[in-house]
Amino acid sequence: MPGTGGARHPLSGGVGAAIRDRFPIFEHTTYANSCSQGALSTDVRQAYEAYLEGWDAHGAEWEHWVERAEAARAAFARLVGVDADEVAVTTSVSQAVSSLVSALPLERGRGKIVISEFEFPTVGQIAHAQELRGAEVVHVRPDADGRIPLERFAEAIDDETALVCCTAVSYRTGYRLDVGEVARLAHERGALCLADSYQAAGAVPLDVGALDVDFLTAGTVKYLLASAGLAFMVVRRGLHDRLLPTQTGWFADEDIFRMDISDYSPASDARRFDAGTPPVPNIYAGLAGMAIVEEAGVAAIETHVGGLRDRLLAGLDELGATVATPRGEGEIGPLVCVVSTDPNALVAALAAERIVTSTRDANLRISLHLYNVVEDVDRILDALARNRALLA
Ligand SMILES: Cc1ncc(COP(=O)(O)O)c(C=O)c1O
Repeated sequence: MPGTGGARHPLSGGVGAAIRDRFPIFEHTTYANSCSQGALSTDVRQAYEAYLEGWDAHGAEWEHWVERAEAARAAFARLVGVDADEVAVTTSVSQAVSSLVSALPLERGRGKIVISEFEFPTVGQIAHAQELRGAEVVHVRPDADGRIPLERFAEAIDDETALVCCTAVSYRTGYRLDVGEVARLAHERGALCLADSYQAAGAVPLDVGALDVDFLTAGTVKYLLASAGLAFMVVRRGLHDRLLPTQTGWFADEDIFRMDISDYSPASDARRFDAGTPPVPNIYAGLAGMAIVEEAGVAAIETHVGGLRDRLLAGLDELGATVATPRGEGEIGPLVCVVSTDPNALVAALAAERIVTSTRDANLRISLHLYNVVEDVDRILDALARNRALLA
């Protein structure tokens, strides 16, 4: 086994062994599927219980529940380095992106939407839905090595481009795109840039100011360690009064509690991209999940996971496996994709050994997070060695 006898990666506070006992699944399972769903913590379980207890004890706690939604907005804002008034709270990335494109005046000579081939289906499908409004959608495809060179974006973006959609970490291959450079190319042509960062938030430091993207989306299901039904979209301050979403709802109104149906007067900040009643139970869970990430620190998580990932890659090389994820500096994050001759059979074989992974395309997806430790990596490598015939 490669590296088994080597030095252990140092575990800093809040990651690895220091945090693992807050995730009961590790008592019986090697969990390496955070790209699909973060593991359940005792903190998130208690948060759900607190929601139910408050509801039971006080009935409709609306003031408190709305305050919790604002706390979630602020927590996500801290995570990505913006102010809370630059964050919309939504139930999904789909809802966020739909409201964003509903605000784009596509008909005014800026009818093109450029999307990378690595976009999550929802982003691609929403872009293509705009064809009904006259939009043209241009795909930016990767090279055979799995990278998307910036020149491909430069070729696709022109003066008619309204929006460029890119993804910080590909859910399909784990490839990390240089979204800051994509944003720069978009801005050179007067286009706006959306970075869907669902596969990065909580695992990779995200500084919206440094990236200079106009919009950034993520949700709590994966590396933010909570459950379905809560997502966020950053909308940079300078854009608020330029963008009027026609996909909207009463929680996006300038005065929610006026209950006024005489006109459309959205909030002056990013809350204009909110919609209906906030997803209160998911907000309780999301706050608890994001608190764990904040406590550990995303930089510490990235360092910890980077050490585990390098050990995994060394072991995969020793097995002669084909890694689909490009491995250059800054090109790989927490998700490692390995080519399999039968990915479903491989996931099932690992599951039979209580190792949880997932598949996309022809790849086995192994994703590591703050709670994984060296022993998890070695268990996965041992199991892959036993199933070597299923690796391409
Ligand atoms: C990159 C990416 N974007 C978006 C989503 C999900 O979007 P939604 O919140 O609309 O379900 C996922 C995963 O489910 C994802 O991996």
